[in-house]
Amino acid sequence: MVSQKLFLRLALIVLCGASACAKQADAPAAAAENPADGPASIVVPAGLLDSIGKADAKAGEALFISKGCKACHNLTDVKLVGPGLKGVTARRSLPWMARMILHPEVMVKEDPEAKKMLAALMTPMANQNVQPDTELPALLAFLKTL
Ligand code: HEC
Repeated sequence: MVSQKLFLRLALIVLCGASACAKQADAPAAAAENPADGPASIVVPAGLLDSIGKADAKAGEALFISKGCKACHNLTDVKLVGPGLKGVTARRSLPWMARMILHPEVMVKEDPEAKKMLAALMTPMANQNVQPDTELPALLAFLKTL
């Protein structure tokens, strides 16, 4: 057992001499983007989390109706065209939801969770032209209340 551990450590050291180690050194930068937040190819506004904290959930509720979200989403956990959104912030991160709202058409191609939903629901979410700096924080503040 001990010798096995030692062997593994030695093997790691040997591997580290090769290109594997250079890859490891790069890892922190590459991993800065959390996969649970969705693909980095969709840019979310800088300071998004802060702006959600300051945003008005009531304004978000009005946007949820005026932007047409309500046509496809229940506020309960019952599915309509899309999933019911009750408790959605417990299963998705805020940056992930931001990306889903800004570019659903990219999410269903690049994000594993969005792909799964599309496969199950067989309807793609429509891009509702949500403004990233103004409308998005309010919508997310509203979703947080569900
Ligand atoms: C045409 C119907 C439709 C409209 C309009 C729509 N959605 Fe969706 N939404 C969906 C579907 C369907 C999915 C699941 C992913 C897929 O199949 O594309 C989804 C997924 C989501 C999710 C992720 C839900 C989960 O359980 O992970 C969120 C959050 C969301 N939509 C928010 C919104 C908001 C906010 C709006 C309005 C700006 C909106 N949607 C407008 C159909 C729609």
